[in-house]
Amino acid sequence: MLLEQLLPHGVYAAERRVDDTPEPLFPEELAHIARAVPKRRDEFTTVRYCARLALRQLGMDRPPLVPGEGGAPTWPRGVVGSMTHCTGYRAAVVADGANVVSIGIDAEPDEPLPEGVEQAVMLPTERRHVAELAVAEPGPHWDRLLFSAKESVYKTWYPLAGTWLDFEDAEVRFHPDGTFAVKLLIDHPPAASQPLTQVEGRWLSADGLLLTVVVLNAHANGGAG
Ligand SMILES: CC(C)(COP(=O)(O)OP(=O)(O)OC[C@H]1O[C@@H](n2cnc3c(N)ncnc32)[C@H](O)[C@@H]1OP(=O)(O)O)[C@@H](O)C(=O)NCCC(=O)NCCS
Repeated sequence: MLLEQLLPHGVYAAERRVDDTPEPLFPEELAHIARAVPKRRDEFTTVRYCARLALRQLGMDRPPLVPGEGGAPTWPRGVVGSMTHCTGYRAAVVADGANVVSIGIDAEPDEPLPEGVEQAVMLPTERRHVAELAVAEPGPHWDRLLFSAKESVYKTWYPLAGTWLDFEDAEVRFHPDGTFAVKLLIDHPPAASQPLTQVEGRWLSADGLLLTVVVLNAHANGGAG
């Protein structure tokens, strides 16, 4: 499994490359996607199958996962987790909330960012950073990877803060060893018990995909300290 390469012990994952599993949906989930286009129904359904497999590793059944406030998943009490889907990939991760404060995962196709998006999602320093990486370490589409890192940061941030985070509120710096550091340029989330000024993540480029993960540990200095 691709995602497992990025996860610490105690974070459980499941991923699918195709929509070949008819995961039974709960009535409230069916109601949520009743008017969705087939592509959305497929990703919604398969990622919830992934959630079922991931939660099973924690010894839990899957409850209804209707998107909650701000679109964030409604995990069972005491569980933290994250979900992502892009063309050809769906994944879910979960962990015991006693060990992990929050998690964000994101998958993107390893392709350039669509025209015009770069301006909206990158700081000037980040534009210089990805341009330098493209020369020094050609391989992954660094612009898309940076976007993915910010999506993972947002999915980690939101369940803690309950507030929006702008693309200009975080500055990402990649390391070729498969890690990245993110400086949060705004005050720490009011709902979080600790300051949140810097988070660390991990990234992977494989099989035409870019994956990023942020895990804030409860006890270690995973960034929430
Ligand atoms: C919400 C968002 C992060 C989703 O990312 P995406 O790349 O479009 O889509 P993905 O397939 O990777 O992820 C979708 C999943 O993210 C999760 N998600 C959605 N909103 C979320 C939130 N507020 N908090 C945590 N997870 C969220 C859900 O599980 C969703 O799947 P579901 O709708 O099937 O339940 C994105 O659409 C968005 O709004 N981004 C703007 C905010 C941002 O990124 N700021 C940058 C800060 S540095």
